[in-house]
Amino acid sequence: MRVVLYTGKGGVGKTTTAAASAVWAASRGLRVLVASADAAHSLGDVLEEPLGDEPRQLELKDGGRFSGTLFAVEVDARAEVSRHWGAVSDYLGQLFRHQGIEEVMADELALLPGLEELTTLLAVDAWAREGAYDLVVVDCAPTDSALRLLTLPEAAHSALRILLKLQRAIAGLVTPLARNLVAVPLPGSEVFRDAEGLIYRQLGKLSELISDPGTSVRLVLTPERMVIDESLRARTDLALFGVAVDAVVMNRLLPEEAAAEPFFAEWVRQQAARRDEVAEFFAPLPILAAPLQDDEVVGLARLQAHGRILFRDHAPEALLSSEPGLEFRREGSGYALRLPLPNARAEELDVTRVGAQLMVRTGALRRPIPLPRHLLGMDVSGARCRDGILEVRFQPSETA
Ligand SMILES: Nc1ncnc2c1ncn2[C@@H]1O[C@H](COP(=O)(O)OP(=O)(O)OP(=O)(O)O)[C@@H](O)[C@H]1O
Ligand SMILES: [Mg+2]
Repeated sequence: MRVVLYTGKGGVGKTTTAAASAVWAASRGLRVLVASADAAHSLGDVLEEPLGDEPRQLELKDGGRFSGTLFAVEVDARAEVSRHWGAVSDYLGQLFRHQGIEEVMADELALLPGLEELTTLLAVDAWAREGAYDLVVVDCAPTDSALRLLTLPEAAHSALRILLKLQRAIAGLVTPLARNLVAVPLPGSEVFRDAEGLIYRQLGKLSELISDPGTSVRLVLTPERMVIDESLRARTDLALFGVAVDAVVMNRLLPEEAAAEPFFAEWVRQQAARRDEVAEFFAPLPILAAPLQDDEVVGLARLQAHGRILFRDHAPEALLSSEPGLEFRREGSGYALRLPLPNARAEELDVTRVGAQLMVRTGALRRPIPLPRHLLGMDVSGARCRDGILEVRFQPSETA
């Protein structure tokens, strides 16, 4: 089974692209589930079908004739949170209220940032396992929270372990009689049960799903500077957590004919330049290009047509690139960044660190790599290019 997650900056066309690829794959005879993991659901609006929190079967038609079925669902994140994590968030709410935090805010805080996204993916994972799908397409929230979602299993795993140890220590020390005397409400056994369940079962399942060779992310972007920059950063963050990205979707490209109109000529020229940049910056990832349509891309028929154009010679369910574009590895007290540059000649290679970014040049090509926060306090301690792979090493700064 393949799981493909679409993410990108707000408004670039994630839901449209996810829906179009799901409809197109389903019309080619695959068993497909498309799930919205964005709390601000718009998947139902884009498909023009009412959706609920259980997969619903939709019939696709081509020229009035049946052409396939698609399953679609909008996850109810709040309900999922209380199912998997209810006791813990009740406890946290109680704890925050006890500390004088207002009721509404305490309840919000008790949901812990990222928790809704996490449980959403857990629900998708459960359906993916049950439903015998060939392809599960996930429409993610804008990059920020989607990254939190994808990178959470690893981060949450260690944070929750510590929390659990701490809670156990407190509970072990304080006798039931003393419970009434201590300043904070103490967690009951159901809190441990839920927290443990989350750590050992749910997060484990989620890490499996995310690191599965069948799971990949596609970054959706538009030909604009700020959007491209945010996507580059997202690629770094995903690489850091070992999440595979297998393609970039470039949406809203003006047709070449538009260049005949004086008003659009400059736009067309700029978009072509951005497209070259994206190919350069994100190599070896393939770019799927989608034209700016003359109207909103809504409804099954328009989505199917859009999917056909978007994937052209590719299969929507295929793993479009199996080569990790960028990798980070721990090496002693530092890190090694690895970037495949198959055609680079060592004597033409130039690696410069400019603030929070590493700029790699090979001949006329440039590759900006925003550095992960963790590496910002480190120095570049060496770089070499061997067998078509550039390796840059980072060591903790001696002055730090
Ligand atoms: N290629 C396209 N041509 C024309 N209209 C498009 C195209 N792609 C998306 N749109 C339109 O742009 C709007 C935003 O698209 P969409 O909802 O898919 O973006 P999104 O990235 O999911 O947004 P959000 O960040 O709010 O979730 C919609 O009205 C959609 O129909
Ligand atoms: Mg959306």
